[in-house]
Amino acid sequence: MDKLLIQGGARLEGEVRISGAKNAALPIMCAALLSAEPLRLANVPHLRDVTTLLSLLGGMGVAVSLDEKLGLELDAGNLHSPFAPYDLVKTMRASILVLGPLLARCGEARVSLPGGCAIGQRPVDLHIKGLQAMGAEINVEHGYIIARAKRLKGARVFSDLVTVTGTENLMMAACLADGTTLIENAAREPEVVDLANCLKAMGANIEGAGSDKISIEGVNALAGATHRIMPDRIETGTFLVAAAATGGSVRLRNTSAHLLAAVVDKLREAGANITAEEDGIALAMDGPPLSVNLRTAPYPAFPTDMQAQFMALDCVARGTAVLTETIFENRFMHALELQRLGADIEISGNTAVVKGVPQLEGATVMATDLRASASLVIAGLVAKGDTVVERIYHLDRGYECIEEKLAQLGARIKRIH
Ligand code: EPZ
Repeated sequence: MDKLLIQGGARLEGEVRISGAKNAALPIMCAALLSAEPLRLANVPHLRDVTTLLSLLGGMGVAVSLDEKLGLELDAGNLHSPFAPYDLVKTMRASILVLGPLLARCGEARVSLPGGCAIGQRPVDLHIKGLQAMGAEINVEHGYIIARAKRLKGARVFSDLVTVTGTENLMMAACLADGTTLIENAAREPEVVDLANCLKAMGANIEGAGSDKISIEGVNALAGATHRIMPDRIETGTFLVAAAATGGSVRLRNTSAHLLAAVVDKLREAGANITAEEDGIALAMDGPPLSVNLRTAPYPAFPTDMQAQFMALDCVARGTAVLTETIFENRFMHALELQRLGADIEISGNTAVVKGVPQLEGATVMATDLRASASLVIAGLVAKGDTVVERIYHLDRGYECIEEKLAQLGARIKRIH
């Protein structure tokens, strides 16, 4: 298994390009299932999760091709098997996003239950409840969701919890339903808006994406379209936090500050000078970071996907910070690894108290999930001596060429095969 070897102490300086958003690309690729005409996508990030989803779609009969600019074309004209097998779904939970589109386009679907992951149990009961409200017959047998619906009917669906992929699944299914669907307590994440924009380009009638009430008036068929995936706001935040932790000065291209306002506010609280630019965002530090409290919550509040990265920053900040994780029940595993590097962290329930220390010491640590891995890389960049991060396949799922991009900014980092 690959590892990353990081020699700490270098300030990050210079410019990198931010890739397309993983959490927009995944639902948008599934949206291709809704049309018999090709969907062309630009700015798709080259990630493990993207290739996993391409295998899954290919197995259903979706024709996949790359154009000369590495744009992706997905043609679901000959969709022949609405089936998502366990061996693929277990490696990527977001595969659940094929359920709504398959049900809407084919009238049936057999999708493996995603199962939990390191950060939590990750149930999909709200996806199922919403589709049942739209008239789907759904049973769970031998670990598979078996769903059938002659034609889904528009319905009013109130989601008990704000669920990003739940909102996306229902929004996609509703595009081809008979009548109008209203999703209340919908997720407001920018990736939901990007998906809605792609669906509208395909001919869907959607109002209210980005608010907590989304109304979709079903149509008989969707056409093909061309869509450019939005920038990855979590990759953006990760590089900003890494630059802040190393006292550096960076410019990130092909992204935008308005996608992560809550994170920018917290970084400014930590003492970062942040400038929003035409097609990017710049950050510079005048001195060591100050400790910053945070509480994760659905968008537009502070994103749970940035909590682990910010904890690494708080480990080397001046003062004491309280971090509260309200979305997932087990998203502090990076804390145990950060302690191996000398961090002073006390966990109680969903709250972590982080006392800044003057210096972390390099050590060998183990990545447990995608964003925890990023947190350990950030800590390794500032720790004294060498840090080895193991199990970095987690990292490869969500960050495109992270060590190349960090090395471009002056980090002393390399992959050991
Ligand atoms: C999406 O996951 C993201 N993944 C996650 O990013 C992100 O952490 C999460 O949203 C929260 O922002 C993708 O978009 C592919 P949820 P999702 O449904 O949709 C509970 C990353 O690092 N819930 O919004 O699976 C759930 O347990 C990943 O890129 C139910 O109880 O998350 C959680 O406590 C990690 N029943 C809360 O809702 C359901 O049916 C929010 O989960 C669905 C969710």
